[in-house]
Amino acid sequence: MPVTLHDKTFDTYLSSETIQQKIAELAAQLNEAYAGKRPLFVPILNGSFMFAADLFKHLTIEAEVSFIKLASYKGMKSTGHVVTSIGLDHDLFGRDVVIVEDIVDTGKTLHDFLPQLQHQQPASLKIVTLLHKAEATKHPLAIDYVGFVIPDKFVVGYGLDYDGLGRNLKEIYQLQVAY
Ligand code: IMP
Ligand code: MG
Repeated sequence: MPVTLHDKTFDTYLSSETIQQKIAELAAQLNEAYAGKRPLFVPILNGSFMFAADLFKHLTIEAEVSFIKLASYKGMKSTGHVVTSIGLDHDLFGRDVVIVEDIVDTGKTLHDFLPQLQHQQPASLKIVTLLHKAEATKHPLAIDYVGFVIPDKFVVGYGLDYDGLGRNLKEIYQLQVAY
């Protein structure tokens, strides 16, 4: 069933079952990769809250979580944005850190933010994202765990929003193509 949010209509793209199956697979990979360790998962709000919650339920390893929010500021210079994190209250030194993202689009957010985390000298720093718009990449990143590679079309649902709405949907929807 299509959904309308604000002025736009979206069609179902990934069902709840498809999403949950993929999350179980990602968690199985993480359980294996981090066996015997105690990784710190760092989900980036707001979009990743739902993915992080479902992923966490499937983890059987010892794991910690610390949600953060990123805020971008226009820099003093015209060279771009400075990204600061709100809520990162864990020391990352020597930790196995896993960034949890709902979607990596151009890669700019993580490209700008990762150096700040590297600066704290974690033992390892990996990325897990539910969705990856591979065609939209402008800032290449090594993404270690990807749920779905999707086309460069706007999606909502399962934590992702269109102007504030749609985060509560259990499925992921794609912007309807206008003919
Ligand atoms: P970036 O381009 O990789 O920096 O992605 C920036 C952010 O844009 C993501 O974390 C999402 O919050 C948002 N975003 C990118 N593509 C979509 C989309 O299709 N739907 C909803 N939000 C998106
Ligand atoms: Mg996001």
